[in-house]
Amino acid sequence: MEQFQELLSANPLLLLAYLFGSVTFIMGLKMLSHPDSARKGNLIAAAGMIVAIFATIFLYEYKEEGQPVKLHNYVWIFGGLLLGTIMGWMAAKKVQMTAMPEMVSLFNGMGGACAMLISLIEFRNDSVPPTGKMIIIVLGMIIGTVSFAGSIVAWGKLAGKVKDRTIPGGQMINFALFAGIIGLSIAVIGHFVPDMPYLFYGILALAAMYGILFVMPIGGADMPVVISLLNSFTGVAAAFGGFLYNNPVMLTGGILVGSAGTILTILMCTAMNRSLKNVLIGSFGAQAATGGGSGKEQGHYKEISLTDSAVLLAYAEKVIIIPGYGLAVAQAQHICHELEKVLEEKGVEVLYGIHPVAGRMPGHMNVLLAEADVPYDKLLEMEDANDQMSTTNVVLILGANDVVNPAAKDDPSSPIYGMPILEVEKADHVIVNKRSMKPGYAGIENDLFFKPKTSMLFGDAKKVLQEMVTELKQL
Ligand code: TAP
Repeated sequence: MEQFQELLSANPLLLLAYLFGSVTFIMGLKMLSHPDSARKGNLIAAAGMIVAIFATIFLYEYKEEGQPVKLHNYVWIFGGLLLGTIMGWMAAKKVQMTAMPEMVSLFNGMGGACAMLISLIEFRNDSVPPTGKMIIIVLGMIIGTVSFAGSIVAWGKLAGKVKDRTIPGGQMINFALFAGIIGLSIAVIGHFVPDMPYLFYGILALAAMYGILFVMPIGGADMPVVISLLNSFTGVAAAFGGFLYNNPVMLTGGILVGSAGTILTILMCTAMNRSLKNVLIGSFGAQAATGGGSGKEQGHYKEISLTDSAVLLAYAEKVIIIPGYGLAVAQAQHICHELEKVLEEKGVEVLYGIHPVAGRMPGHMNVLLAEADVPYDKLLEMEDANDQMSTTNVVLILGANDVVNPAAKDDPSSPIYGMPILEVEKADHVIVNKRSMKPGYAGIENDLFFKPKTSMLFGDAKKVLQEMVTELKQL
C-alpha cells in the first residue's frame, strides 16, 4: 500500500496507465469466455498491454545516485519491440489452426524465459538482496525456468521434433532434482553460504533439467493439458516479477494468467474424467502406442454410400452434426457449413453438438466453426445436445471418435470410463465419417461403430462433405 501511494504521488499518469491496462485485461478475459465477443476481448486486452508498455517506456522513473532517471536506451528497447512484433505477427499469420497448441506453447515458453531473465538480472543487480526480495527472485526464477524448459519440450513434441521418452527411474530423478532445488533455494534465500552466485546458477540448472524431464515422458496428445499447466506457471512467475518491480499491471496480468491457466487445466481434466496425476503419468499415450482397445470381439460394422447418406440427411427433420479432431485435420469446417445451409434449404433443422474436449485444445470446435461463420446459436453444449438426441433423426459424426465412445459410460475397464460423452445412440440413425477403423486420441476401439444404428462413411472429411453437398444439390 505504501509503495502504491508512493507511485501514485510520484507518477500518477503511469499509475493511471497501469490501472487502465489491468482493467482491460479483466474485461478482455471476461469477453474471451464467449465466441461472439472473444475477438474484441483479445483486442481490448492487447490495447491495454500496449498502453502499459509505452507508459513504462516513457513515464517510468528509477533512481540513479538518488536522482530520478527515465529509461533512455531506446535503441535496444525499440529494436527488441520491433523484432518481437515482426516475429510474433508472422508466426500468428502463418500458423494453421491444428498447430495452435504448439504456437501457444512456444509463446508461453518465451513468457517463462522473461520471468527467468528478470530474476537473473535482479540477482546480478543486487547480489545480496534482503530475504523478502530474494524469495521473490528465486521463486520467479524457478517457476519461470521450469515453464520455459517444459514449454520448449512440449513445443518440440507437438512439432514432431522431440519423441515421447520414458526415462528409466525418471520419477526418482525428478524427485531428487526437486529436493535439490528446495535445498539450494533455502541456502541461497537464508544467505547460509558465502558463495551465492554459484548456488543461484545451480538452482537455474536444476530447474531447467526438472522442466525438461517433467514434460519428456508425457504422451504427445496430453500436451494441451500440460501446456495449460505450464501457462499457469508462467503467469505466477510473471506475478513475482510484478512484486519485484512493484508493477501493478504485471501483477494483475500474472495473477490472471496464473489463475486462468489453473482453472483451464482443471476443466480439461474434469471433461476427460482424468486426474492431473493421470495426465502427467501419461497412461493414455501408452495405450495409443500399443493399439489399446478392450480386446473384445467387435463383430461387424456397416458401411453406407455417399448417396444413401445424402438421402438420409435430406429427408430428415432434425440433424445433429458432431465435429471432432478429424474435421479440424481435414480443414472441412467451411464445407461443413455449406452442407448445413444446403440441408436447411431443404427444410432440415441442423444443429451441432459440441463436446468440451473435442479436438485438441479448449474450444477447438467452437473456434473452428466460428472461422466458417457457423451461427453460434446452432452450437449446442454437450448436455443440451444430449437432451435433443432422442428427437433427432440423423447424427452425422465428422472426424470425432472418443467423444462419442459409449465405453465411457458402459465399460468400467475402459481408460475413458466416466468421461461424459455425446449420447448419439439415442438418435434414429448415426453416420460416422472417418478415414478408417483406427482409434482416436485415447487409442481405444469404439463400440459405437459396431452398433446396428451406426453406418460408417469412410473418407477424408473435406472430400466426403464436398461430394455430399454436390449430391444433395441434385436431390
Ligand atoms: P479423436 O478421438 O482423437 O478422434 C479423431 C478421429 O478423427 C480419429 O479417429 C480419426 O480416424 C479421424 N480423422 C482424422 N483425420 C481425419 C480426416 N482427415 N477426415 C476424417 N476423419 C479424420 O477426436 P475427438 O473425438 O475430437 O476427441 C478428442 C480427444 O482428444 C479426446 O480423447 C480428448 O480427451 C482428447 N484431448 C482433447 C483436448 C482438448 S482440450 N480438446 C486436449 C487433450 C486431449 P481415422 O484416422 O480413421 O480417420
